[in-house]
Amino acid sequence: MKHFSEASKVLEGQQMFQILSQARQLEQAGRDIVHFEIGDPDFDTPPNIVEKCIEALRRGDTHYTNSSGTEGFKRAAADITQRSRGFRPSHDQILVTQGGNVQIYYALACTVNPGEEVVTVDPCFVSYRSIMKLLGIVPVGVPLYEENQFELDPADLEKAITPKTRMILINSPHNPTGAVLGEAEMKAIYDIAEKYDLYLLSDEVYGRMVYEDADTKFASPSVYDQCKERTIIVHSFSKSYAMTGWRIGAMTAPADLVARMQLLLETTTSCVSPFIQAAAIEAMTASQSAISAMMQEYRQRRDLMVGLLNQIRGVSCQYPKGAFYAFANVKKSGMTDREFADHILQQAGVTACPGSFFGRHGEGYVRFCFANSSANIQKGMDRLLALFQ
Ligand SMILES: Cc1ncc(COP(=O)(O)O)c(C=O)c1O
Repeated sequence: MKHFSEASKVLEGQQMFQILSQARQLEQAGRDIVHFEIGDPDFDTPPNIVEKCIEALRRGDTHYTNSSGTEGFKRAAADITQRSRGFRPSHDQILVTQGGNVQIYYALACTVNPGEEVVTVDPCFVSYRSIMKLLGIVPVGVPLYEENQFELDPADLEKAITPKTRMILINSPHNPTGAVLGEAEMKAIYDIAEKYDLYLLSDEVYGRMVYEDADTKFASPSVYDQCKERTIIVHSFSKSYAMTGWRIGAMTAPADLVARMQLLLETTTSCVSPFIQAAAIEAMTASQSAISAMMQEYRQRRDLMVGLLNQIRGVSCQYPKGAFYAFANVKKSGMTDREFADHILQQAGVTACPGSFFGRHGEGYVRFCFANSSANIQKGMDRLLALFQ
């Protein structure tokens, strides 16, 4: 039987997992590989968070729960939003989900029809395009330029809007470039969304990950309408709390949209495990010192990696202001980004993602994730320095 739906044929998935599986094959054949391809913190989840999960399991917190999330989770999420963004969403504006990725699917599926357009950035996180194609939505990518530190120019964004546009989808701090948008740009983007009466989805999964020496602070467009009118915040515990495998996140959005997304969640996954929600409550309510310690460490790793990347012949790289990715320009290496990534994997046992995975405007760049130990960063970069002598 070989009958597949048209929708399934356009799925792109996350190509970095394909690099990971290539690398695993080489490892099985005995090669030592240094991994910079996947955005997965090498830190373990802080132990107090793990303990709360175990306690909840022992208590018998192992049943179905309210499909939009437990009241305890929503209270903690509203508190943390109050502290971080200065407004308190009501409980019916919060939806607890299995990580951030699926939130993008819920939001798009519940707001945009097939054939309509969503304006986002190019390069962008790979799932955006894949989900849009699955839903028959037309992605419109606004190019990001290295000379602008990969920051989205609101004027370029406005030019991309047509009568078919239904949503603007932004991401700051940005994967794959580490760019961070300042308050003035955020306000300008919010004003455009308001002017054309569009939803504004703000992917803030790296919202806690801005480096203290960056000249820009984290800004969220949610402050302008408190997620009551058009702003949808995508948030996840994956990156900042080192909880990628737990699959937990929460979105904040207008209540009527949350009600529809809750139905979609209920239809597809029923609810999020209550013991995982218990762990996330601990993450939100306990001391945030573990996050600060991880950020200090990421900053040192960033400096180490970018400093060494800039010593490699044919490679140059700006210092990212947020997230944990170095987006290196490899145009002078004489190879395409895909050739470059393949070459370093085969010849040096180093994995990284070609920029073109993230869109046409990522061509000529390679993304190196520095959520790896300093020793491994040094080892991987030493191999590249030797390879490109
Ligand atoms: C920009 C961005 N959004 C969302 C996600 C999804 O993260 P998760 O599903 O682990 O919460 C990622 C993961 O890499 C990402 O980079």
